Amino acid sequence: MAKIALITGINGQDGKYLSELLIKKGYIVHGIRRGSPQADIKNEKEIYVHYSDLTDYAELFKIIQEVKPDEIYNLAAQSNVKVSFEKPEYTTLTNALVPLKILEIIQTLGLERKTRFFQASTGELFGNSQEVPQRESTPFYPKSPYAVSKLYAHWICVNYREAYNIFACNGILFNHESPIRPENFVTRKITKATVRIKKGLQDKLYLGNLNAKRDWGFAGDYVKAMWLMLQQDKPDDYIIATGEAHSVRELVEFAFREVNIEIKWEGKGLNEVGKDASNGRTLVEIDPAFYRPVEANLLVGDPSKARDILGWKPSISFEELVRMMTKNDMNLV
Ligand code: GDD
Repeated sequence: MAKIALITGINGQDGKYLSELLIKKGYIVHGIRRGSPQADIKNEKEIYVHYSDLTDYAELFKIIQEVKPDEIYNLAAQSNVKVSFEKPEYTTLTNALVPLKILEIIQTLGLERKTRFFQASTGELFGNSQEVPQRESTPFYPKSPYAVSKLYAHWICVNYREAYNIFACNGILFNHESPIRPENFVTRKITKATVRIKKGLQDKLYLGNLNAKRDWGFAGDYVKAMWLMLQQDKPDDYIIATGEAHSVRELVEFAFREVNIEIKWEGKGLNEVGKDASNGRTLVEIDPAFYRPVEANLLVGDPSKARDILGWKPSISFEELVRMMTKNDMNLV
């Protein structure tokens, strides 16, 4: 009998990659998304899409009761860290309370023995990193309303696992990107801008903190780890990361190199600019609007546990990821 999976956030980047993977594996895939049935998503024909707002408990209850999934992947979130400072309450309602509701429903319906639960936890939990690289044992120190909301989600997942024996796993996912990453995340913002600048469609790229370092991997690899976690004998939490840190500044340099532009940096702080080394034209400037009130400066995960227990490792390097995204934008723009 084919397994049944239910994915929240089916229309997000990870929802798209995960549904493709599960369909290939022969799953029957159900997805929940906001909006109306007219909206168009890739793969829709192969996915049973439920249009629902996840804050609606009664509807969520009905969907889970009807579908009786073998696996639930909670990928829906207000996932933008900067936005969480502007919408802290909405971020909390979505990110913290939805996983609680799902776990409650699993328990209320007596599905503890049937339904396995994956929670998209995050490297942002480590915020003001107490150890480099961050491991599963590194203390958390969240630095944004987003990270604090995800901290609740992380622990409620652990708590329901311990209290009610629910097969619940946290994937502590570090940044993961792809050609379908939206532009409000820095990777896609940069790759799209480099291509537009190269083609003369945009003058400059405005960015915030260039010094932040992140561990960027490929989303297609990360959804495999999610699936693997739910196929183990025991539920557990795993860091999913590449183990390599790069700064936003390096990301800019790599992306421009893909379109044959060498960036030379001049100035300091808010006055720092990135110039085209061949002609001195300013292509990158700082806009303080993109700064966050506080933020994690260095996030880099140690994926050893996932490698040893799940047999998982990333297949795409930072350089390959930037190339893949820039190439795709070249074709799109
Ligand atoms: N978005 C954005 N836009 N970020 C910028 C910009 C800009 O113009 N300029 C500099 N940055 C810096 C941010 O300050 C941050 O340090 C870094 O680029 C990455 O920002 P994002 O791409 O927005 O991602 P994030 O690291 O805040 O969060 C992502 O990864 C987390 C896992 O580590 C998101 O996907 C989260 O949902 C996820 O949990």
